[in-house]
Amino acid sequence: MQNTDYKRILVTAALPYANGPLHIGHLAGAYLPSDLYCRYQRLQGRDIVFICGSDELGVAIMVRARSEGITPQELVDRYHPQIEAAFSGFGMSFDFYGRTTTDVHRETSQSFFNKLAEKDVFVLKTEAQLFDPEAGIFLADRFVIGTCPVCGYEDAYGDQCEKCGTSLSPLELVNPKSTLTDATPELRETTHWYLPLGDFQDRLSSWIDAHPEWKSNVLGQVRSWLKDGLRDRAITRDVPWGVPVPDEASSKAGVDATGKVIYVWFDAPIGYISATREWAIKKGDPELWKKYWKDPDTKLIHCIGKDNIVFHCLMFPAMLMAHGDFVLPENVPANEFLNIEGQKLSTSRGWAVWLHEYLEEFPPDLLRYALATMLPEARDGDFSWTEFQNRVNSELADVLGNFVNRTMTFAWKNFDGHVPELVAPSRDDQAVLDELAAFPGRIGSAYESFRNRDAVFDTMALARLGNKYFNDTEPWHTRKTDLQKCGNTIHVCLQLCASLSVLMDPVLPFSATTLRKMLNLWGVKSSRPDEQSEGSIGWEHAGSSLLDASHMLGRPEILFKKVEDEAIQMQIEKLQSAGGDKSQESSTSFVPIGSEIVYDDFAKLDLRMGTVVSAEKIPRSKKLLQLEVNLGFESRQILAGAAEHFEPAELVGRKVVIVANLAPRKMMGLESQGMVLMAEDRDGKLTLLSADGEDGAVVR
Ligand code: MF3
Ligand code: ZN
Repeated sequence: MQNTDYKRILVTAALPYANGPLHIGHLAGAYLPSDLYCRYQRLQGRDIVFICGSDELGVAIMVRARSEGITPQELVDRYHPQIEAAFSGFGMSFDFYGRTTTDVHRETSQSFFNKLAEKDVFVLKTEAQLFDPEAGIFLADRFVIGTCPVCGYEDAYGDQCEKCGTSLSPLELVNPKSTLTDATPELRETTHWYLPLGDFQDRLSSWIDAHPEWKSNVLGQVRSWLKDGLRDRAITRDVPWGVPVPDEASSKAGVDATGKVIYVWFDAPIGYISATREWAIKKGDPELWKKYWKDPDTKLIHCIGKDNIVFHCLMFPAMLMAHGDFVLPENVPANEFLNIEGQKLSTSRGWAVWLHEYLEEFPPDLLRYALATMLPEARDGDFSWTEFQNRVNSELADVLGNFVNRTMTFAWKNFDGHVPELVAPSRDDQAVLDELAAFPGRIGSAYESFRNRDAVFDTMALARLGNKYFNDTEPWHTRKTDLQKCGNTIHVCLQLCASLSVLMDPVLPFSATTLRKMLNLWGVKSSRPDEQSEGSIGWEHAGSSLLDASHMLGRPEILFKKVEDEAIQMQIEKLQSAGGDKSQESSTSFVPIGSEIVYDDFAKLDLRMGTVVSAEKIPRSKKLLQLEVNLGFESRQILAGAAEHFEPAELVGRKVVIVANLAPRKMMGLESQGMVLMAEDRDGKLTLLSADGEDGAVVR
């Protein structure tokens, strides 16, 4: 059943709801992994199409539009362009980014629906459902709240209780209420189309069994759904926003479908097909999409986050099987969730890093790289700003950037910007070239099997190898003793740089382009769509020497600037002032006693008495207060992270103990010349030490 000899690849990334901006969790779940994969495949010269778009229909969009006081259309018209801009800022290399409010999508979804109706795949059921008499609509999913029958939580939604996690149907709620009007709903009969997933249970099971190579987090979820047994799923809704149930299907069923639309989880994955159609139209070859969806030589890959597994591994495949004309996915590499600073990402609590905001502060490649090292591939991952800073400073800047920079500068200083000839390479030179030859295959097979973190670690390992070789061969020394030996070193280092400019391209596409410009290296295949013909040098060449002797280099530039503490501090403060669950932060036990020090360690501290003479809030900072502390013989500006605990006026005139010999630090653009000692209780609450003594007195 498995076809390993595909002619082309079709990659889809989950269509994000156009009901808000994108955050870092989106990037870590479906988007960065799919982009890494596609860029790698293009460098391999494969025929690949990468499809995504905005998911613009359904109840989630309606609910958000209501809360913003605008129409669903206005909502999606606001967010679709913002999402598209954030994606392009991060270098997402889609061949086409569509949206589900287009005519092509309506038509594609309706004809898919009609085809299944013709084949008598659906079941129709007439049942009593909750109806809001004031708003005049049926209360699907999140339009109704009430008391959870399981845990008694009073604000449970019609589809799920967020307190205990139980998945519910609106009829199970005790004391249901309309979220639209507060009215108590009535029961009314309504007819809906159902997809009888149970009919596909056997076919789905044997198809899944034929894919033992899928990621175990995906197989685990799928098998547990299959074990529970698949139930019928309603695939139409009585709501005013969606693809209307087509006339053919409704007259065939003899049901008046006025006001009925196709359920969003039925139409959205069809969005992959409609976006591929629009891509083909844009390319001027409207039939081209068929090759990618209908020819069994296509390898279809769905990249998603774990909350989408059931839809992509069971429901959409059942739809595709029922339809019959289309290929089934060859793999569905889903990622787990990304936490932020140890807490669950939550947009409602503001605990998120927004992509458009990130892009105002830092280059996209830094987050692409850092996030790639933290991807939640097998279990939930954690993003932290200090980890981001570490990855950037100690890997991108100190390893990769440094290797390229020292090599380039050396070549310009000592070889007039030419690639020196390699003559009679030493055993060390040859060993490095031999090692290089194995990198493309190894990194490539990690990308092929969706082990992106491994691929990225291995990419950095090549730069590490380069640095080590540079150090070991000491060209600054051989320059004076044996110029040819020195030239050999620089020759080999430049070849490593050239190979890196190809191998790092999936994860660091912007910097890879800069590096190739620095090397004056042209003719490398593009990892972006529609530019493939430009180059002939591809992934498989990246293990051999790409630069000829005496090739003229371009000018060196700094590839990666380090990220300052101050910038990281600002991001952490921004996150904390936006939200976060304080209950997760507070600990109930005492901090354990620190490790033992000797008297000399203590004696290094110069503690002094002082008096706070002024205190002010710092604009844009929720935490910091700017204090002026008088030490008798001098006055210090000190920034204290106490704004949430004190009114500035409370502090003026208070005696404090300060650490007077702490190196000055900059925060929020201001210098802090010391530190005020305070007691922090188990809940994080701060109190000043009560202290007395002459200003400037030594505390010991
Ligand atoms: N909009 C959905 C989400 O964000 C994903 C839809 S994926 C598709 O969870 F396949 F339905 F398009
Ligand atoms: Zn509950």
